[in-house]
Amino acid sequence: MSEEVKKFKVTIDGQTTEVDPGTSILEAARQIGGKSVPPAMCYYKPLEGSGGRCRTCLVEVSKGSEADPRPMPKLVASCRTTVMDGMEIKNSTSERVLDAREGVTEFLLINHPLDCPVCDQAGECHLQDLGYVHGLEETRTEFTRRTFEPEDIGPYIKLNMNRCILCARCVLAANQLTEEREHGILFRGDHAEISTYLNKALENDFIGNVIDVCPVGALTDRTSRFASRVWFTKPMNAHCECDKCSGKAVLWMKGEEIIRVTARKDQFDEVQDWICNDCRFHKKDLKLWTVEGPRHIDRHSVISLNHYEKPENMISMLNNPDAKELSPKDEEKSRKGIDENFLLM
Ligand code: SF4
Ligand code: FES
Repeated sequence: MSEEVKKFKVTIDGQTTEVDPGTSILEAARQIGGKSVPPAMCYYKPLEGSGGRCRTCLVEVSKGSEADPRPMPKLVASCRTTVMDGMEIKNSTSERVLDAREGVTEFLLINHPLDCPVCDQAGECHLQDLGYVHGLEETRTEFTRRTFEPEDIGPYIKLNMNRCILCARCVLAANQLTEEREHGILFRGDHAEISTYLNKALENDFIGNVIDVCPVGALTDRTSRFASRVWFTKPMNAHCECDKCSGKAVLWMKGEEIIRVTARKDQFDEVQDWICNDCRFHKKDLKLWTVEGPRHIDRHSVISLNHYEKPENMISMLNNPDAKELSPKDEEKSRKGIDENFLLM
């Protein structure tokens, strides 16, 4: 008979949950949800070994554990720190954390260009979201930003190294999903850069997934670059017959036209099912897909604010024959509620 594992009790921003020993603070926070969840620019649950590089997920441990209640003197990276029984953590309720996050955001933006108006990732970029909440209004940097020319690193992927924050997710994705990794982080310190190996092009079967895991617009899809702002496209769940991957994807449509194809992602913007290059880059004809219906996007970014579906309270009304229709005033209120929640994240 298997022995029952004792769960650890952990409290984050005053909300308590129980998790298995070995769970990271970040995963425990995700279990609670809402404002308890620290942002994560390098951690990516489906990628083994991710995290520990960007420091956006710093939290304050105000009580170490039931056995040793002393607080931890320094802020800790929540993606790399495991919970202890009775641990108490502060995320959005800690001034120190908010201050540190402001510093980390400023640091990540030192070399990152503010080119959101011409960047394909705008509207679903984690750094843009972080900048909205924690960014300063002006830069204090006196040094020249390091700059690179945009580069085609294979037939499907454009690298804009100026935007890269060196989170290493794309390197881990290439390591873990493709047969042969053909790119990596070259050099060290402030000379570090993403690059392909000599004479190599990124064209392995599953390499397109590096576009999905990149938190910024450093890696973009050459087959859909500049085709549309993401908030003008409608995400639709669709599937197709595919012998390489599950064939389950999201089609980003403009009318009948498929602008781009991506993997399906959860509320933390993490891929649920990796898709192959064929599905992502070559199946832009609607006849090749069975469309299931609109995709609900519930991560805190601009794309989730464009309502292609009815807001949830309206859906429950639609299912309830006794419900009355919302007045324009109530509708405005419900929309405002959603917008305010977005700003608080
Ligand atoms: S290219 Fe994107 S995924 Fe790769 S290290 Fe840079 S920011 Fe991270
Ligand atoms: S998400 Fe934890 S250090 Fe980057």
